[in-house]
Amino acid sequence: MTARPEIPRLVLFPITADVNAQGHLTLGGCDSVQLAADFGTPLYVFDEKGLRSQCATFKKEFGQRYADTTVLYASKAVALKAILTIAREEGLGLDVVSGGEMDIAQQAGVPMERLYFHGNNKSAEELGMALDRGVGRIVVDNFQELALLNDIARGKKRTPEILLRISPGVDPHTHQYNTTGIIDSKFGIPLSRGEEAVTAALAAKNVKLLGIHFHLGSAIFEVEPYPKGIEVILDFASGLQKKLGFVMKELDIGGGYAAQYVVDTPAPPISAYAEVVTATLMRKCRELKLEPPRLVIEPGRSIVARSAMALYRVGTIKDIPRVRRYVCVDGGMGDNIRQALYGAKHEALLANRATAKDTAVVTIAGKYCESGDILIRDIHLPEVTAGDILAVADCGAYCIPMASNYNAALKPAVVMVKDGKARLIRRRETFADLTRGEAV
Ligand code: LLP
Repeated sequence: MTARPEIPRLVLFPITADVNAQGHLTLGGCDSVQLAADFGTPLYVFDEKGLRSQCATFKKEFGQRYADTTVLYASKAVALKAILTIAREEGLGLDVVSGGEMDIAQQAGVPMERLYFHGNNKSAEELGMALDRGVGRIVVDNFQELALLNDIARGKKRTPEILLRISPGVDPHTHQYNTTGIIDSKFGIPLSRGEEAVTAALAAKNVKLLGIHFHLGSAIFEVEPYPKGIEVILDFASGLQKKLGFVMKELDIGGGYAAQYVVDTPAPPISAYAEVVTATLMRKCRELKLEPPRLVIEPGRSIVARSAMALYRVGTIKDIPRVRRYVCVDGGMGDNIRQALYGAKHEALLANRATAKDTAVVTIAGKYCESGDILIRDIHLPEVTAGDILAVADCGAYCIPMASNYNAALKPAVVMVKDGKARLIRRRETFADLTRGEAV
């Protein structure tokens, strides 16, 4: 990307983002105004270079500091086949949380042994499916699941290799809905019952306990919670090695690495997470005289968030004198529920006048029948008129997979751009899709 100090928000867009001679935002060498014309709006646009480079950065930053690192892409962030194919090609494994994600991974040609299966309430069918398809690890979340899996695995050809998910009781200081590593959480086994869980897993004849997993939460802007979690779990594992002979071969520290959504709140670089995580792990293993385990990480958001933008067309503009100007676009909470659900912040640019000076503060609203259907509250933009194209940054993670058909809206098309070419990776839904599964 050419440095564009006059457009600070450009850093929130994919790495190939630029502005062409007509003042149009470009991505992967494609004119975003043309993309909107060719594919319609709302449109999600993924940048292949940006996506591949994030995958590679995680592998490099962790791998060069700690060779025995496995990087999994947390597919819940967006599980389109084209995205999982790229993750596979970049040599990543996958974190999956449902039979559905497992199946999409298989359709994308991801070797099943590269999958880690998570979830706090996996069904017997899903566990059976994981065993039959040869999923690499099952991350057991609770005592009930351990017993169920041990039952289902009886008589199977391959003994499933499992991790136990332990809640270390570390607060990552993020949104309440994105906090998981604390004790009062539906996820994982509380540390206080960790010994009981390891004892039960070692006694379970049909599973093989390989290690421990924890996941602190999502959008974690501080690096400190990670070393805290690692220390807690290594102390725990070392105690149980002495007491029960349990050897932790694998330590999976989950995901949660932040992405930058607004100009003045940068996220730590991946190297900063990699440095604290690997330094703590090595130091603590030395101190406790533990054999260093394989390190597994599960980034989702930090791989895909920045790699996509969403394009909308502006329609109604409503002025309420001295109160607010609403700029309404043709999407909203149906394709991006993050502001409505978490008060999440996104930034945007006028794609068709990307270099124009900001003149007003407006609120970007969607077209859904909900007052909470706001995409961006109070954003500085140039004069906006109906027909303008708005490009919202950082829409790669947790927008498409959380989309709904509320108000019978059609889920948007998705394209992937690279070297001046755009390929459709998911077509826009049609009205026929809305009633496809109905039985009348
Ligand atoms: N591993 C586990 C076990 C997880 O539960 C998650 C995310 C991840 C990894 C990946 O976390 P990430 O690196 O993406 O932060 N819908 C919310 C985020 C929910 C995260 C759920 N679990 C949002 O839009 O902010």
